[in-house]
Amino acid sequence: MKDASPATAPETFYLKDYKPFGFEVESVELIFRLAPEATRVLSKIRFVPREGAADPRFFLHGEELELISAQIDGEPVAPRLIDGGLECDVPSEPFTWESEVQINPAANTALEGLYMSNGMYCTQCEAEGFRKITFYPDRPDVMSTFKVRIEGTEPVMLSNGNPGDSGAGFAEWHDPWPKPAYLFALVAGELVNHPDRFTTASGKDVELNIWVRPGDETKCAFGMEALKKSMTWDEEVYGREYDLDVFNIVAVDDFNMGAMENKGLNIFNSSCVLASPETSTDMNFERIEAIIAHEYFHNWTGNRITCRDWFQLCLKEGLTVYRDAQFTADMRSEPVKRISDVIDLRARQFPEDGGPLAHPPRPEEFQEINNFYTATVYEKGAEVIGMLKRLVGDEAYYKALDLYFDRHDGQACTIEDWLEVFEDTTGRDMAQFKRWYSDAGTPRLKVAEEYDGETFTLTFQQSTAPTPGQDIKEPRVIPIAVGLLNDAGEEVVPTTVLEMTEAEQSFTFEGLSERPVPSILREFSAPVVLERETSAAERTFLLAHDTDPFNRWEAGRALAREARLAMITEGAAPDAAYLEALTSLVRDDALDPAFRALVLSPPSQSEIAQALHEAGTTPDPAAIHDAAETFSQTLAQAMADSLPRLYAATTVDGPYVPDAEGAGKRALNSAILGLLSRIDGGEAAAKQYEAADNMTLQLSALACLLRIEKGADQSAAFFEQWKDDRLVMDKWFGLQVSMARPEAAADVARSLCDHALFDMKNPNRFRAVMGALAGHHAGFHHASGAGYALLAEKLIALDALNPQTTARMCAAFQTWKRYDDDRQGKVRVELERILATEGLSRDTNEMVSRILN
Ligand code: ARG
Ligand code: ZN
Repeated sequence: MKDASPATAPETFYLKDYKPFGFEVESVELIFRLAPEATRVLSKIRFVPREGAADPRFFLHGEELELISAQIDGEPVAPRLIDGGLECDVPSEPFTWESEVQINPAANTALEGLYMSNGMYCTQCEAEGFRKITFYPDRPDVMSTFKVRIEGTEPVMLSNGNPGDSGAGFAEWHDPWPKPAYLFALVAGELVNHPDRFTTASGKDVELNIWVRPGDETKCAFGMEALKKSMTWDEEVYGREYDLDVFNIVAVDDFNMGAMENKGLNIFNSSCVLASPETSTDMNFERIEAIIAHEYFHNWTGNRITCRDWFQLCLKEGLTVYRDAQFTADMRSEPVKRISDVIDLRARQFPEDGGPLAHPPRPEEFQEINNFYTATVYEKGAEVIGMLKRLVGDEAYYKALDLYFDRHDGQACTIEDWLEVFEDTTGRDMAQFKRWYSDAGTPRLKVAEEYDGETFTLTFQQSTAPTPGQDIKEPRVIPIAVGLLNDAGEEVVPTTVLEMTEAEQSFTFEGLSERPVPSILREFSAPVVLERETSAAERTFLLAHDTDPFNRWEAGRALAREARLAMITEGAAPDAAYLEALTSLVRDDALDPAFRALVLSPPSQSEIAQALHEAGTTPDPAAIHDAAETFSQTLAQAMADSLPRLYAATTVDGPYVPDAEGAGKRALNSAILGLLSRIDGGEAAAKQYEAADNMTLQLSALACLLRIEKGADQSAAFFEQWKDDRLVMDKWFGLQVSMARPEAAADVARSLCDHALFDMKNPNRFRAVMGALAGHHAGFHHASGAGYALLAEKLIALDALNPQTTARMCAAFQTWKRYDDDRQGKVRVELERILATEGLSRDTNEMVSRILN
């Protein structure tokens, strides 16, 4: 039932072509008669023609639907079935459209529309999945109320909104809030719930449920607490209350993304909601808390106010990521959250912005919108909001947000609407700021400094390299947070936000009797690359003394990077001064353990490859890997005497609690264990593995052992212990690959694909293995080309089942032009092989074509 291959060039959609739909949808009533291979969907939709519509054509989207019958105002009609939907002649007065279609959820391996996961019915409609459920104007600017009746034998049958009648074999739901079809959801199956209640600020009592497969009900408590915290936080910080009688969350094993904010019925990848100390790591707990918050926050930023079209995706995603980051910072540690987010931004968004897939946060064209659920739309979209808030200040930000909610509630909006509320509340002209939405590429910011005995001057130059389709970049508004320190590490000028608007611009600080040490781009106040020629001594000073925790970490990161680069390009030994600075920082008990863990965790090998590339050197993945190994080994030896004591001192006693404090300590403890295992032959790690009563400790011990090739027994034991737990097995699959030696990584991944528990159809399992290979820098880019070949082979196989996940994973190839001719040649062969595959999906076709160009 998959779409045929694009015989001609696939259609491209453009922002500039936007036209409203010619009809309003007043109401939607749906009846589902569930059957795994032959579900019937009956629709009854009230259409009202729009006065003077620019496009009066009655076109309904529909894909992979078998049309059984269609009627208008009760009379049979014969619509014309065309590519991607149907057309029909309709009255010029309001009318009722009815149709019956048949669909096959059991055959739906794309996991888009209505599909089956472990015998349970579920849906994923964002972005354009509803058209696989029934004929409908499947576009986000068409909003309507929905009444749904589900007929089936499943004990639990859920849809959006509030529950209506139910009885033997049926359940009805009514969603009073007008919504676009992408927020539609249906779930039916044998599910059990973890129930709770919440009273909103205005006293409304809300029933909360997390629905899971029998056996998983013990893994819901943490998610439920996260949900209630999110509900309270959104009331307190943004003044937003929940608006239905029920809020349901369902965990699904087979899911393409993390989770989905369907109105009143959030559907989650089970990996993003199920949590228990025995099966989940600290990182899992933190991520689950953040994703539950993210989906809940969408109720206002996404659902009550949605997007006019998919080009505006970052309107809801950037804002909601920004909100969930604020939430995590409030629940946990603000600097730690900021540092982690910047690490993630540099690892995922910067390569996208600097390569063939670069696109603006608001793209202007696409072939397959699912290919634009990217780090640029989400994470850079959130950075742009952070900059807005920094520029206008907190008070003006929340005033603008109040106006946004007030003015646009119930509407489908654009970035222009969003910027206008800032213009209207602050009187600022947002025209130049808007370039952050329309331009791709990461600006580079060069800084020069001057001191004349009294005045300190910082001169910045900004420039952005060309990106696909955008050769010339105008200067952007860049908020640069700066503080000045004296030699004693005291702030002589506290954090000030400089507002850069020109290509080159100077800022002066008067009345300074000594030359200050500048701390620039504090809190990472803008998503740019700061280029600053500075001495290692000054970086070491900032690592020890900067009063801005982000920049303190940043100074250490720069030292770490430079130490690696010197090792690789000059054959230098690991920098002694840096090793010493690192050692004293790790021992500093006055510092937050989570922060120390971050300082201790090395830059990724991919980041080093990028840094080499930017310095004009072709990165050699093997040399980068060796430098990383040598560095860690040298650090472990330099710290040898204190490691056992540090390990003992950072061990968390008592029962496991997944809070920020414990997680921070365990992160530091595990980084120390990593070093310790390099000198004690794995003794401490083996003991930790034996004694572990939670997954965080068990997994970190196993990782340390596998890294030094001592973990075979533990790995086998781990398998026996957890083989029936899908989520834990994903960790096991992934770890085999990420801890493999570079030359073995592709072989290990290949044999795991032949493992009895490998399942191509489960995106989590596929990602566990192939995602780990793509993330193993030296393994994926091994000179043999085996990594490239295996990924291509598996992507070709997956594309026939699940285009969305295939296309997303093609991004592993996006950095290919960094490497030498030989590697580039090998990648090109694989990309061309994928592209030549018969019946290749539109999704993968678009991704590979862009990467090749
Ligand atoms: N809106 C969801 C979220 O960010 C993501 C859903 C994306 N799904 C997709 N098929 N592209 O929470
Ligand atoms: Zn989202």
